[in-house]
Amino acid sequence: MQDTGTYEKWSLLLLCAAITWGIAASPVSSLDTISPVKSIADGETIVSSGESFELGFFSPGSSAARYLGMWYKKNIPASARTVVWVANREAPISDRSGVLKVTSQGILVLLNGTGDSVWSTNSSADARIDGPVAQLLDSGNLVVRNGDDRNPANYIWQSFDYPADTLLPDMKLGRNLAAGRDWFIRSWKSTDDPSPGDYVVWMDPRGYPQLVLKKEESLLYRGGPWNGLSWTGTPALKQNPVCYYLFVISPKEVSYRYELRNSSVVSRLVIQPSGILQRFTWIEQTQSWRLFYATPIDQCDTYGFCGAYSRCNINAPPLCACLPGFVPKSFKDWSLLDFSDGCVRKSPLACNYTDGFLQVKGMKLPDTTTSWVDKAIGLRQCGQLCAKNCTCTAYANSDVEGGGSGCLLWFSELMDIREFTEGGQDLYIRMAAADLESVAASRRPNDKAKVGIIVSCTVVAIALLILGFVLCARRRRAQRKANECLDDGDDEEMELPAFDLVVIKNATGNFLSDNKLGEGGFGAVYKGTLADGCQIAVKRLSKSSGQGDKEFKNEVILIAKLQHRNLVKLLGCCIKGDEKLLIYEYMANKSLDSFIFDEERGKLLDWSMRFQIIIGIARGLLYLHQDSRLRIIHRDLKASNVLLDTDMNPKISDFGLAKTFGRDQSVANTKRVVGTYGYMSPEYAVDGLFSVKSDVFSFGVLVLEIISGKRNRGFCHPDHGLNLLGHAWRLWMEEKAAELTDEKILGAEVSGSVPGKVVRCIHIGLLCVQKLPEDRPNMGSVVMMLGSDENAVLPRPKQPGFYMERNPFEDSDGYYRCQTSSSNGDSCSRNQMTTTELYPR
Ligand SMILES: *[C@@H]1O[C@H](CO)[C@@H](O)[C@H](O)[C@H]1NC(C)=O
Ligand SMILES: *[C@@H]1O[C@H](CO)[C@@H](O)[C@H](O)[C@H]1NC(C)=O
Ligand SMILES: *[C@@H]1O[C@H](CO)[C@@H](O)[C@H](O)[C@H]1NC(C)=O
Ligand SMILES: *[C@@H]1O[C@H](CO)[C@@H](O)[C@H](O)[C@H]1NC(C)=O
Ligand SMILES: *[C@@H]1O[C@H](CO)[C@@H](O)[C@H](O)[C@H]1NC(C)=O
Repeated sequence: MQDTGTYEKWSLLLLCAAITWGIAASPVSSLDTISPVKSIADGETIVSSGESFELGFFSPGSSAARYLGMWYKKNIPASARTVVWVANREAPISDRSGVLKVTSQGILVLLNGTGDSVWSTNSSADARIDGPVAQLLDSGNLVVRNGDDRNPANYIWQSFDYPADTLLPDMKLGRNLAAGRDWFIRSWKSTDDPSPGDYVVWMDPRGYPQLVLKKEESLLYRGGPWNGLSWTGTPALKQNPVCYYLFVISPKEVSYRYELRNSSVVSRLVIQPSGILQRFTWIEQTQSWRLFYATPIDQCDTYGFCGAYSRCNINAPPLCACLPGFVPKSFKDWSLLDFSDGCVRKSPLACNYTDGFLQVKGMKLPDTTTSWVDKAIGLRQCGQLCAKNCTCTAYANSDVEGGGSGCLLWFSELMDIREFTEGGQDLYIRMAAADLESVAASRRPNDKAKVGIIVSCTVVAIALLILGFVLCARRRRAQRKANECLDDGDDEEMELPAFDLVVIKNATGNFLSDNKLGEGGFGAVYKGTLADGCQIAVKRLSKSSGQGDKEFKNEVILIAKLQHRNLVKLLGCCIKGDEKLLIYEYMANKSLDSFIFDEERGKLLDWSMRFQIIIGIARGLLYLHQDSRLRIIHRDLKASNVLLDTDMNPKISDFGLAKTFGRDQSVANTKRVVGTYGYMSPEYAVDGLFSVKSDVFSFGVLVLEIISGKRNRGFCHPDHGLNLLGHAWRLWMEEKAAELTDEKILGAEVSGSVPGKVVRCIHIGLLCVQKLPEDRPNMGSVVMMLGSDENAVLPRPKQPGFYMERNPFEDSDGYYRCQTSSSNGDSCSRNQMTTTELYPR
């Protein structure tokens, strides 16, 4: 080994000498190249001609190991150095003795202190190479070329063929059919260790090619096939202002790449060690990377979460539903919210021309691994083709651009379908005549309902028109400015200041992500500083309400009239085009969850402060339920929606929005369940029924969280696998309720003993989370109970709702699932009972 090494060294030296001799005359020595006579050692770098990229040695994160890598040069300061490519991912050099050379055969080698090669390119050396040069191009591509041959097709080697974890513009994902090699990006092990991690992003060329994210061999997420505008799994990318995508299927390659719309923008796509694919764009003003988009983002992105012939809809708990004409394969699993078995046909296919196709709209197309595509034919022919072959299960357009073209056929079970509110595609599913008939029949009453809706809408529209005339007349009389938030319908001169969009944009740095305080059910919240130094919080409502400006304004004015010391104060609003913004007072101490669930900050809240917070929330909620003019049900009460002012007074935020923004509701039933798992009452989460009692349930969860310092969502007791509610209930039954208490809240003076008041609060919390809404007290009683004498008798709580081992809507990846000791048969059967009771079918 040693001998060969020495021999190689000598031959290398000789070669180098020979070449030095040969090209000594030519003064080619550029900053972006290395050649057999010019290598780079640790500490030296080469920089691309436009100074976009730099190549050299570095140590990632807190590691001391040395790697050869490439990072951004001119745009990004050294303090934020962002490495985009690493050569010796698996073979770090332990000291600063590394040297990068290019041999006369055009092979790049990385040598360590003892002259051993730790990494090299193994390009098939061409016989005729004279004067190989390795050059760092301004695109971030390190290429080895033969002398002055700058034709990319003739590169001896290029780093773009071997990406690390980052996809730069013009890099490809997919398969190089000519070279029999795949292009993919693979995550680092950790931020300190660039060696190949678990996650790979690739374009699977089988069937109709689709973008996939894999962990080892298992498929985690599918971006779906390319439909001409976007990946079908990511309709949001269609209107991408940063880049556009290019998709190539040719005999030589099946590939996907992107190019930037504005070449002076710096943007990259990276697969993180955690398995999230993210696009970042460098923001000059803040000197930081802004996250532009990330995937997978939710439960429905998990591959096959709902099984075959079933669709996932993130807005419709419990997320999975069989496609029309299909039923769950196992009703038992399905009722236990295990959807992985998926659905089956009600009736078998006849396999003659009696079978038909059912159109379903707005879908992410199913897994295309075994599909077949013909870009030349249209939808009609596509359907005929599918009908002819009994193994064909569905068809769709392969492209959606320009109204749709191309034909995509599936020949297997339909897997991983997702329903989008916007931007999905139409899918035509093969179905037996009987099932088609029954689906059509079940849809018919809806048609009647539609007619009804149209009729009543017309009536309402006419009424509104008349009302509009009256209001307009009034408005003109009052000569109020058009762009202001004024209450037209009320004679009290109640005005809500209208903020100018430009002012808000300046205050928030144009909704800079760095100013983002959080994301709620109705949109993101940004911190802003007005020109006079006042701090504000701006809620940027998501654009899905479909509500008119005027209607919205009136609602906002009603919300503004709700004034209570335990509600966040609305300062004003701003409505301009699509933008709907609400401006609130800024709460210096942020939200309650940042205290109670935090090991350190939790210590700042002792029992008396926590009790004051509980009382404050109860009063705020009581005001919303009973005392305000509107009778508002909050519907999303949770720790992150309770803000704390400088004196730690709790203030409920996001109230009233459910009323104004969750329009698709009748009095006590809603199709769109807004809210947060872990805080939702069973009747609301499952049946969409809500009332003041669903808020009481959320309040009860909050009380138990404040006392225990643990989140209900995600809590799982190692002994019995119950969630926080179940755990509290069990302790209560065993008369050990005091054990629930977070030790942090018992200051030194009580020296560890739990005051009776804490236990009383646990008791009240349990009363609020009882399974049946009618058993729960209303907020008036809650406030009374909280304020009453310690000896006053409280009712005995009954079993809470949603107390089994894991929240049925919780991530299925096992994160929150307990490793229950399977011994306790009793608790098992009880859990099952609860579940079936909750999901009667
Ligand atoms: C260089 O690499 C070889 C083989 O990997 C190793 O045995 C040797 O110790 C390394 N030398 C130094 C100085 O790291
Ligand atoms: C390059 O190296 C890989 C693995 O080290 C090997 O499988 C492949 O055959 C090599 N290619 C050439 C052209 O030598
Ligand atoms: C491209 O981006 C740069 C810097 O962000 C900007 O100054 C320039 O106006 C942009 N050009 C176009 C055509 O948008
Ligand atoms: C189609 O197949 C079904 C079931 O096999 C059969 O009952 C029916 O008669 C067939 N119809 C025709 C037109 O062949
Ligand atoms: C139906 O399609 C499958 C898959 O492409 C193919 O293997 C089979 O031969 C086709 N059958 C007929 C009758 O065309």
